[in-house]
Amino acid sequence: MIPFTTYVWILSVAWVLLLGIRIIYRLFFRPLRNFPGPKLAAASSCYQTYHDVIRHGQYIWVIKQMHEKYGPIVRITPNELHINDPYFYDEIYAGGNRKRDKTIEFSNAGSFNGALLTTIFHDQHRFRRGIINKLFSTQAVRNFDASIQEHVDTLVHVLEEAKRTDSVVKLTELFGALSADVVSQFTYGTSHGYLKGDSNEMDLLEAVYSATVFAHTTFAFPFLATMALKLPFAVLRKLPINTVPILELREWAGLKIAEVAQQQKIKTDKSQGPTTLFEMLVDDNVPAAERDPLRLKNEAATIFAAGVETCARVMALSVFHLTKDRSKLEKLREELHPVMSNRSERISPTEMEKLPYLTGVINEGLRLSYGSTLRFPRVAPDEALHFEGFVIPPGTVMSQSNYFLHTDPSIFPDPTNFDPERWIRAAENDQNLKRFIGSFSKGSRQCLGMTLAYSLLYIAMPAVFSRFDMELYNTTEEDVVIGRDLAFSQPVMGRFRVDVKVAKVLGI
Ligand code: HEM
Repeated sequence: MIPFTTYVWILSVAWVLLLGIRIIYRLFFRPLRNFPGPKLAAASSCYQTYHDVIRHGQYIWVIKQMHEKYGPIVRITPNELHINDPYFYDEIYAGGNRKRDKTIEFSNAGSFNGALLTTIFHDQHRFRRGIINKLFSTQAVRNFDASIQEHVDTLVHVLEEAKRTDSVVKLTELFGALSADVVSQFTYGTSHGYLKGDSNEMDLLEAVYSATVFAHTTFAFPFLATMALKLPFAVLRKLPINTVPILELREWAGLKIAEVAQQQKIKTDKSQGPTTLFEMLVDDNVPAAERDPLRLKNEAATIFAAGVETCARVMALSVFHLTKDRSKLEKLREELHPVMSNRSERISPTEMEKLPYLTGVINEGLRLSYGSTLRFPRVAPDEALHFEGFVIPPGTVMSQSNYFLHTDPSIFPDPTNFDPERWIRAAENDQNLKRFIGSFSKGSRQCLGMTLAYSLLYIAMPAVFSRFDMELYNTTEEDVVIGRDLAFSQPVMGRFRVDVKVAKVLGI
């Protein structure tokens, strides 16, 4: 009889051999073998895992060095090419009939399968987007502007109270609460009352933070997320990554969806089509396979999570920069004053969009918060792309991180400078700078909530900037500048934060 240790030896040798064959195949036989880049990155995705998981979000800087050494196209993992060229962004993130899939790794990472955001295949994504597209139309958002204004009024009240009590305001959380209230009211038809303190925005943002901060880990080891989700909430709450508030929200959405589906079944008058997200998801015309309860609650939860931290960051970052440089704040106020003092009750986002300085501030906020620092993957399943003499074969994973797009000095000179006037100068020179903003991504997979996000920004930011003088509280450049890519940009130490005190409440 062969001893047990011999079996172990045989298995180990076979495993090492297989690994070796795989590496040799990746380096010398794969269609990507001729693309530039370090051999270590081409040989194994452990290279990325080491820099992102062990070194906590540092691969972005390694990619930067690769581009400096190898040029604008680099093989950064065995399967992925990163292209650092602002003019190629629209090719990767293409729209129309050009098919763009995502990857199974991206889809599996957070265990929120079946949602739009995590759908792999182009055609299925198009179908799913069609189910809820109408909810996010420009007209639907215009009809909702008054409701955004009400939430912004509550925010103004919270800031006035902070002045009265001389308390420190954590702006990322406060703006997170505003976004969460707006998004829940818009998508679910009911606000969760984060601003009023009915729900705890700290918990929610903490959960979004936990989920994103460990995104690299769950990309590398998706089974960890799957396993964690099998644990009871009481156990999950005790883990250092507390995503329970999002999971609770998902369960709440699941119950609501079941309730709405029941109501739809007994509804006799079906002349008016579905109008809310939940009604759209469970509509009879949607094939049964697409009405799987897990898919639907994942959809409802990801839509919510997608809109909270993203909007909050743009606002908090803009306050940081304008509070630091009062000359910019004064210029903005000069522009806002006539509009705000003559306006009727409500701030009209369409009117505000015409203001060049405000638009410059919002664009800079979007640019320097990057949307997300994740490399959103795209695969062209049946199209070869051509870049500077290279032919990118169909089926290749491609990406371009927004960090690179938004800080390209040939497009945005002095890129780290928050400079609203660069947008005014560009408009005067007939330069379409907006084309190089990828915060909402582009093409068929671009953000579905973009119009809603703009509406919120154009209503909230004038209200805040024209009414409050703020002072930064223990917050410096180091708290807001990117040092790590943890799905969102995080500083070298700690986490992105803008804390302030309200110094003065101004009359308009
Ligand atoms: C400043 C605010 C926002 C930013 C920067 C932002 C950014 C993004 C980005 C980059 C994507 C695409 C991800 C990819 O390419 O895979 C995305 C997708 C998405 N976003 Fe947003 N988002 C914002 C606000 C919102 C809001 C307010 C909502 C909804 C209420 C929302 C809902 C969605 C949805 C549903 C998707 C998935 C779209 C699809 O895959 O078809 N987002 N967002």
